[in-house]
Amino acid sequence: MKMGLLWGLVAAAFLLGGSPGSSWHSLRYFYTMIWAPDQGEPDFIAVGYLDDQLGGQYNSTTRRAVPRVPWVRKVEKDDPHFWDWNTDRAIYFEWRMKTYLRKLRSIYNHSRGLHIWQHMFGCELNKDGSKKGFMQYGYNGEDYINFDKETLTWTAAVVPAQVTKRQWDADLADCHRFKAYLEGECIGWLQKFLEYGKESLLRR
Ligand SMILES: *[C@@H]1O[C@H](CO)[C@@H](O)[C@H](O)[C@H]1NC(C)=O
Ligand SMILES: *[C@@H]1O[C@H](CO)[C@@H](O)[C@H](O)[C@H]1NC(C)=O
Repeated sequence: MKMGLLWGLVAAAFLLGGSPGSSWHSLRYFYTMIWAPDQGEPDFIAVGYLDDQLGGQYNSTTRRAVPRVPWVRKVEKDDPHFWDWNTDRAIYFEWRMKTYLRKLRSIYNHSRGLHIWQHMFGCELNKDGSKKGFMQYGYNGEDYINFDKETLTWTAAVVPAQVTKRQWDADLADCHRFKAYLEGECIGWLQKFLEYGKESLLRR
């Protein structure tokens, strides 16, 4: 089990890549996968943060998305299946990231060793009403590829990621889905969570 290491990577991503600049509030998700050579299946955790507060998590041991702060339970009143579909989404991304991690090992000609694959995405709301959305991937601790929702294309951060860029740019349906998610659904949830967590956030 590399769970301790996974949490360390989440904390690092949080401090480095995912910091929401000058935003007023943010909703951010960090998916982290580690595959060691002696492991049949990689370890995976998915966490969701409202600002700097851990709201919910999923991991490959229990395979169930669960709330981490009491106020997120309020969403169940509006949507009793909230944790079910969050579980489904985490299982889907766990599968998708695992599939792609195999591909990455071949892109890089990596066979042995420990490999880390990270996916970060989320949205931000500013006091003036402006919004931002981001989606990016990191491989072995380096930026790998970033999504530009304005041009609906991916930007390779390293040379090997150009292979991925060509593949992912070609999937225009996915690009449209990600843009719609970042600009619509993500902001919608951020606003809802702010409402649910108002008292808890005001106290901080
Ligand atoms: C995995 O998730 C369960 C709850 O679903 C939690 O009790 C456990 O601590 C988690 N493990 C890690 C290492 O985060
Ligand atoms: C992997 O190996 C192939 C064939 O030997 C080579 O063309 C390619 O540049 C290598 N990729 C990396 C990232 O080193």
